[in-house]
Amino acid sequence: MTQQKTWSDRFEGSLHPAIVEFNASITFDIELIEYDLTGSIAHAKMLAKTGIISDAEAQTLVNGLEQIRQEYRDGNFTPDIHQEDVHFAVERRLTELVGDVGKKLHTARSRNDQVGTDIRLYLRDQIQQIRTQIREFQQVLLIHAQENVETLIPGYTHLQRAQPISLAHHLLAYFQMAQRDWERLGEIYQRTNVSPLGCGALAGTTFPIDRHYSAELLGFAEVYGNSLDGVSDRDFAIEFLNAASLIMVHLSRLSEEMILWASQEFGFISLTDSCATGSSIMPQKKNPDVPELVRGKTGRVFGHLQGLLVLMKGLPLAYNKDLQEDKEAIFDGVKTVKGCLEAMTVLLGQGIKFRKERLSQAVSEDFSNATDVADYLAARGVPFREAYNLVGKVVKTSLAAGKLLKDLTLEEWQELHPKFEADIYEAIAPKQVVAARNSYGGTGFEQIHQGIERAKKQLEVANDETT
Ligand code: ARG
Repeated sequence: MTQQKTWSDRFEGSLHPAIVEFNASITFDIELIEYDLTGSIAHAKMLAKTGIISDAEAQTLVNGLEQIRQEYRDGNFTPDIHQEDVHFAVERRLTELVGDVGKKLHTARSRNDQVGTDIRLYLRDQIQQIRTQIREFQQVLLIHAQENVETLIPGYTHLQRAQPISLAHHLLAYFQMAQRDWERLGEIYQRTNVSPLGCGALAGTTFPIDRHYSAELLGFAEVYGNSLDGVSDRDFAIEFLNAASLIMVHLSRLSEEMILWASQEFGFISLTDSCATGSSIMPQKKNPDVPELVRGKTGRVFGHLQGLLVLMKGLPLAYNKDLQEDKEAIFDGVKTVKGCLEAMTVLLGQGIKFRKERLSQAVSEDFSNATDVADYLAARGVPFREAYNLVGKVVKTSLAAGKLLKDLTLEEWQELHPKFEADIYEAIAPKQVVAARNSYGGTGFEQIHQGIERAKKQLEVANDETT
């Protein structure tokens, strides 16, 4: 194709080919094209409403822009680095399609407010898509939780067995992390949903534009009140990557647990063939690649957050070309979080099976009911610390004798303390140990049922009710 020049007549020479390539963002900002077209359509309509261009001109521009959308969707719009970025590429194609009137589109606008508008429109969409994915992830967690209220699993602190808990309790903990992620994204949506369109290059414009009108057409709830801030603010993008990082923290912690649980050492879950992969050399292996990849991809999202923070920290007002570097961080952050949420939802829904016999064996083969023995005495008037020390001794002698607490005879219990009675056996049975922790938010079954009801209520709130 013939190389058209991009810049004004001020420029005599042409750009060095290496700099053309270095300067271009079209290879990645093409991702914004649909939002760029939508933003330009609103801008054209605003120009007509304010009498800056005629209604007929605006209609021609809108038709041309819609035609480009169709061409793009049909795979027939493939600009190259010579158009530098998506904004120039669209404007050039528009002028090819509609003639000189196409050159009026950029009246009272700069690529600086344009690109800011595009990213906000893009991110707004993506935020709601991610929130929908979070809902699907929560649904799967809730289904497992409902099926496993009375399935017991060892609870850990320091990765040492601590007290048995309901498996539902464990899963609902992740549900609540996801709930915060969903809410957090709703808050960030609000700060993303502000229009910079009409801030111009940095200082506003001499034309009698109506920024509130174009904002309204685009569904923005507010407009930036300071044009310098409007064109150079990327707080919303940093907030998004922060929220994305926290989502990844949560997915990565769950991944880590799944990897442990699938190991022979734990054996709490088995991986179904739909989500596990084999080894090229060790035929016996079934690998948890999905959670490992999620854990691994977490680092790149943290990296994008860090990258954007560093990108912003030294920027003088207002727009600087450094800001072109925000896009790949945002796009990859979005893509990574979406991919991981989808994979984890599939993994939870179809890729794992809880090994219930193994779990019930796990909660009856250790001393994780020791607190309950101490609580038993404390409830019968023995000071807790005294009871705690006494049980510590029992654990020590039982370990030496190769016994568990449930193996002690009633005489042995009563020798330790006269307050022990026959009901000690029931008090330390795993199911009772879990059921008894009936304090608000605890693992007791009644609490779990209430937690499930609360979770269902939380799921009833739709994305748009909070944004
Ligand atoms: N491609 C540019 C970006 O992504 C668009 C804005 C360019 N503005 C400018 N003044 N050079 O940031």
